[in-house]
Amino acid sequence: MSKSFAVIGDPIDHSLSPNIHSAAFREMDLDSSYIAYRIPKGELEEGIEGLKKIKIDGFNITIPHKVEMMKYLDKIDESCSLIGAVNTVTNTDGILKGYNTDMDGFLEPFKKKKLNIANTKVLLLGAGGAARAIVAGFAKEKAKSITIANRTLGNAENLAEFAKKIGLDANAVKIEDVKDTAKNFDIIVNATSVGLRDEPSVISLEGISEKTIVYDIVYMPINTDFIKKAKEKNAIIIYGYEMLLGQAVRAFEIWHGVEAPYNAMKKALLGGF
Ligand code: ATR
Repeated sequence: MSKSFAVIGDPIDHSLSPNIHSAAFREMDLDSSYIAYRIPKGELEEGIEGLKKIKIDGFNITIPHKVEMMKYLDKIDESCSLIGAVNTVTNTDGILKGYNTDMDGFLEPFKKKKLNIANTKVLLLGAGGAARAIVAGFAKEKAKSITIANRTLGNAENLAEFAKKIGLDANAVKIEDVKDTAKNFDIIVNATSVGLRDEPSVISLEGISEKTIVYDIVYMPINTDFIKKAKEKNAIIIYGYEMLLGQAVRAFEIWHGVEAPYNAMKKALLGGF
């Protein structure tokens, strides 16, 4: 029987998820479809009812519904309760189960490139929803410590509390305080939205080496100023699109129960730029 999937959010018209999943269906010869469905803030409940009526088999959730969607789940996977936000749902006869594939998506490029996280010193820029999944990932992979630097100190402090609760040594600082400290870290991640509009990176990467891992979760443009600065230093680079791809691969595997066609999905994603 044919299956249907969707991504919900607002704005949604530039989402790359329909391309990525449709390419996977073609590659695997699956009789499935995947659409983008705009649900404005405040209309989530009605939107979900509509999706249930058409017997949607599963859907992804993006901004601004990732946290509010938790209320409408019947079952919650551990990934989802840990992070407190949901980005992937399965619908089995009207029973909605929520997952969060952002953490696995974030970690996927480290695994693919065999890059070690255990015992590293991490600098995380940003303390929003994405940063929380990233902190969970570093805790899982047993990083030595994480410095969370954010424009609003209070948000960094909250996230550092979360990190400590799940066993990761953490401290919170303001971004200004880490501007010239990049050389003290093994892994530096930009999880702020800075770069989306081609702004200059929030910190300098002076002093980093070719062993430093620099990861930008902003995927549009592919080559943000942060990534360009990392390239100048010959650092090890992980692009934002790799996390996007990683979370889509994981969602695919939850829905279809088979290994996702990574290369076909990557090709579709990069073709979208
Ligand atoms: P996401 O779901 O992508 O994580 P978010 O939860 O809105 O989005 O988080 C955005 C992050 O980018 C936050 O850390 C935010 O900092 P604040 O906590 O101070 O708001 C950060 N951010 C956004 N615009 C920024 C800017 N111009 N300079 C520095 N940080 C910025």
